[in-house]
Amino acid sequence: MIPPTDTTATGARRVAAASALLFAATLAAAAPADGQPLTERTPHLHGTWTSSPRNLHFQFSHRFRLLGDSVDVTDVFSSAVVQNFPTFNFNYGLFEGAMVGFDYSTNSRVAGGANEWEPYVKVAPVRGVTDAGLSLSVKGGYNGASKSADGELAAEIRPGPVVLLGAVRGFSDGFKGVRDAEAGGQEALALAAGANVRITRYLSVAGDVADVVAGPDGDLAWSAGLHVGIPFTPHTFSIEASNVYSGSLQGVSVGDGDVVFWGFEFTVPFSGFARWGRIVSPSTAREEARQEAGEEVSVRREDRVVEVEIGDFSFGRRTLRVPPGTVVRWVNRDPVAHTATSDAGLWDSDLIGPGETWEREFTEPGRYEYHCTPHPFMSGTVVVTEPGS
Ligand code: CU
Repeated sequence: MIPPTDTTATGARRVAAASALLFAATLAAAAPADGQPLTERTPHLHGTWTSSPRNLHFQFSHRFRLLGDSVDVTDVFSSAVVQNFPTFNFNYGLFEGAMVGFDYSTNSRVAGGANEWEPYVKVAPVRGVTDAGLSLSVKGGYNGASKSADGELAAEIRPGPVVLLGAVRGFSDGFKGVRDAEAGGQEALALAAGANVRITRYLSVAGDVADVVAGPDGDLAWSAGLHVGIPFTPHTFSIEASNVYSGSLQGVSVGDGDVVFWGFEFTVPFSGFARWGRIVSPSTAREEARQEAGEEVSVRREDRVVEVEIGDFSFGRRTLRVPPGTVVRWVNRDPVAHTATSDAGLWDSDLIGPGETWEREFTEPGRYEYHCTPHPFMSGTVVVTEPGS
């Protein structure tokens, strides 16, 4: 475990090495699954995302700052004094649109000390409604360090390649460490807003601001990040700058003046839990085997459209058998963009965003293999049968 306050060069090297190891280990352990990509949010606004049922999801955010007047940045591991601010975040999906989780920060300012724990429940009852793709979520947590019941109401919309996020946060007894020690905490309300703008398939820029609008006086909190999707994996990574200390609801709602923390964050979804569940569930295993082997879909003459749902980084019907003249419509249920791209170069859907669809009519009998360009481990087949067969 990383010590609460680590102000030595040796400590910095140890933390860097541990982080790199942890990152490598979790990357290796994680199979493709859904997870909240950083390319869909900002450093401090996690939006309305919830982990999918029985999936464990890990996010690690690390911030640091250099102390002293004459710090040589190029010599950071040998002479500079580095102060570390890691936040660990785990989420577990209960059912569709609901999860439990916790944040743990070893360095905290809002509570005036170290070891800030925040367990929480998050529910997202509204997903991608209206043309703008409006989603809403409610999060209720308890900040153990400041003994405060904290909550967040979050909203997001997705006009084009942009995700706009907003949140209202309430605290029953917040920001003790920001105020005079004698004054203690108090009820408080904070507002936050941010945006993530996608530049390319794998790259986006994001930023957010938050401020306590009722309660103790604090500086505006801000963050900015360059967010990167790691090609061929469900993982994302970011390089960030900010003026906040910890990742809890209180932590990301108040900044510290001109202080600038630099850092990075990565997200790792684990799909193992869901897989283990399927081993002891024969009916589910059978259903999956049937989908792997192929599925005969009878299409009515007046309704020649067959839907393929994209979810959890896979195509819902791995092999689809349809008569000529069928329109196949891909529906993206994932929080990230996918494509349906012909292996033989016959067609390319280009990016199908979250909640979007794309369709193509298949007229010629034959076997059509396709894949997803950002995630080549995703593949599927459309078999167009001979007329009358
Ligand atoms: Cu994909």
